Amino acid sequence: GGLPRFANFPPSDFTIEAERAAYPEAIARVRGVMGKEVPLFINGQEVRTGDHLDSYNPADPSEIIGSVCQAGVAEADDAIAAASEAYLSWRDVPAEERAEVLLKAARYLKDNIHDLSAMQILEVGKQWDQAQADVAEAIDFLEYYAREMIRLGNPRRMGRAPGEMSQLFYQGKGVAAVIAPWNFPLAISVGMVSAAIVSGCPVVYKPAGISSCVGYGLVEMWKAAGLPDGVFNYIPGRGSVIGDHIVEHPDVSVIAFTGSMEVGLRIQEKAARVQPGQQQCKRVIAEMGGKNATIIDDDADLDEAVLGVLYAAFGFQGQKCSACSRVIVLDAVYDRFVERLTEAARSVKLGPSENPANYMGPVVDKAARENVLRYVKIAEEEGNVLVKREVSDDLKATGGCYVPLTIVDGITREHRIAREEVFGPVLAVMRAKDMNDAIDIANSTRFALTGAIYSRSPANLELAYKQFRVGNLYLNKPSVGALVERHAFGGFKMSGVGSKSGGPDYLLQFLDPRLVCENT
Ligand code: SER
Repeated sequence: GGLPRFANFPPSDFTIEAERAAYPEAIARVRGVMGKEVPLFINGQEVRTGDHLDSYNPADPSEIIGSVCQAGVAEADDAIAAASEAYLSWRDVPAEERAEVLLKAARYLKDNIHDLSAMQILEVGKQWDQAQADVAEAIDFLEYYAREMIRLGNPRRMGRAPGEMSQLFYQGKGVAAVIAPWNFPLAISVGMVSAAIVSGCPVVYKPAGISSCVGYGLVEMWKAAGLPDGVFNYIPGRGSVIGDHIVEHPDVSVIAFTGSMEVGLRIQEKAARVQPGQQQCKRVIAEMGGKNATIIDDDADLDEAVLGVLYAAFGFQGQKCSACSRVIVLDAVYDRFVERLTEAARSVKLGPSENPANYMGPVVDKAARENVLRYVKIAEEEGNVLVKREVSDDLKATGGCYVPLTIVDGITREHRIAREEVFGPVLAVMRAKDMNDAIDIANSTRFALTGAIYSRSPANLELAYKQFRVGNLYLNKPSVGALVERHAFGGFKMSGVGSKSGGPDYLLQFLDPRLVCENT
């Protein structure tokens, strides 16, 4: 009996005609129903507020995806109160039953994968395959954490001393606040939220403002799964209004965050200070930034390396914490690689992600466009521009949030473009004398999230294995697209605190271990 072994949900097969046809149909369907007021969801009830934030299509900002009610401090308090109220009973629901709810949620996502993908294409400008991969990853988190909780739910006998029975087991820590990013708007949200819920921790979930309609998908999902009222509460709201308030609330025990280093550090600082009435030490899980490097060895397979770097740097417009933003090329292969890379970058199509012919689309919103344009300017000042490709004037006239696909070289480790996370399609090319120099440059940032190396040399791959010190290192593979379990994901140094998402230690962060020893 029991569940089949965990396996990743497969990517879309676009060679199948029905699969290709499903996307325009789903996009049209979602377009037909979107643009409405999106309520909060607190204690099983829809709640409307007077403050709204419009979420728009980055390819056409005049297209409104939803007018999202914004929670203020009062609604945040109501959500935390509902979660606290639900805690004692949800904590004590048997692990298998909690896991069962996640499996039902996974069923809902599988049944609605095209519409959920379409919503991401429209709200954050994901390409079809990337949107589908995000929903697939959300399914994987649910399936994986369900199994993980079943594994951890069995009390473990400790020692075999005669005359005693000693058992170690876990209980949910308390209310979890989940503060989610917009770039993997379903996957990372579902990952953090479902880990908390399956561990017995009710959740207040604050989606990112610009992906709150995708975030509302979690409300529908948990309803379909039959989760009890109060265990999941959806409170989109402005970070400046409710962010600190949620983190500092005395009844919040766990804060799971994914986003920028600045916000992650602020959360750790705020959570460390004990508030009046607070009954427990807060646990913070923070996935933060990256400045990820790909090393190109002098014997690398350049066909693979060029495509891998292009995808890791410009897939979803480079808006991934895992994106390649530095490519470090050994001197002996420098000219050949750079020529091939720039040629490839000049050949890809740019335009709305809704059209699958386009390799790169708009960045997520107007503020992201301003930020990336600032870095394009810095890159131009610091290095030599190899590629700076803009969309056509027609597309520019639509007001879409487009930024140039940018590659510069002449970059050394002191440059800002080699040190600061851009979160956009800007790639710095750096030259290395040899493999030791390349690894040294790769390790020279304060981040340690992902990395990749393309090499045919077993000795150099071995050296990278040992010395290229990042959370996720990929040998002859792009640095993006981690799969649950197989590529359990997360970094260290200034890239974050906490254990790998989609990995075997993740749930422990939401659990308090207890030991009971009986004298028999
Ligand atoms: N898990 C994503 C990736 O690997 C980043 O969050 O690309």
